[in-house]
Amino acid sequence: MKLNRELLMEFARQAATHAYVPYSHFAVGAALLGEDGQIYSGCNVENESYGSTLCAERVACVKMVSSGVRKFTALAVYSGQDYDSMALPCGACRQFLSEFVSGGDVPVICFARDGTVLERTFSQLFPGK
Ligand code: THU
Repeated sequence: MKLNRELLMEFARQAATHAYVPYSHFAVGAALLGEDGQIYSGCNVENESYGSTLCAERVACVKMVSSGVRKFTALAVYSGQDYDSMALPCGACRQFLSEFVSGGDVPVICFARDGTVLERTFSQLFPGK
């Protein structure tokens, strides 16, 4: 399945419009390309008990796995902010996603509202995978 970057990024951007962020006002959208060729997206969902907040990346990942797909081949993460506060997957998400990533060379495309893009491989973010 060839990666359509623009489409994956558009799904991430769209997902961020659903972000539930009354506490941080920091909207994030994530989109995973599943090995089935489908895109699974998610947004961050915050909670009054801050620690119960779910990041966009994990929401997208559980949507994929609960749909019966266990591997992803690309990830896009959109921040509704500009570059200076661009979201990168947090440590908990890196660990969580590592269970379902199809390999260390999977691209992780992080981008911000102002158009800046920062791309890494999954193994650059999570060495050893
Ligand atoms: N957040 C994400 O959803 N993904 C990231 O990559 C970084 C942080 C969320 C968690 C919280 O709702 C808000 O952004 C501020 O940290």
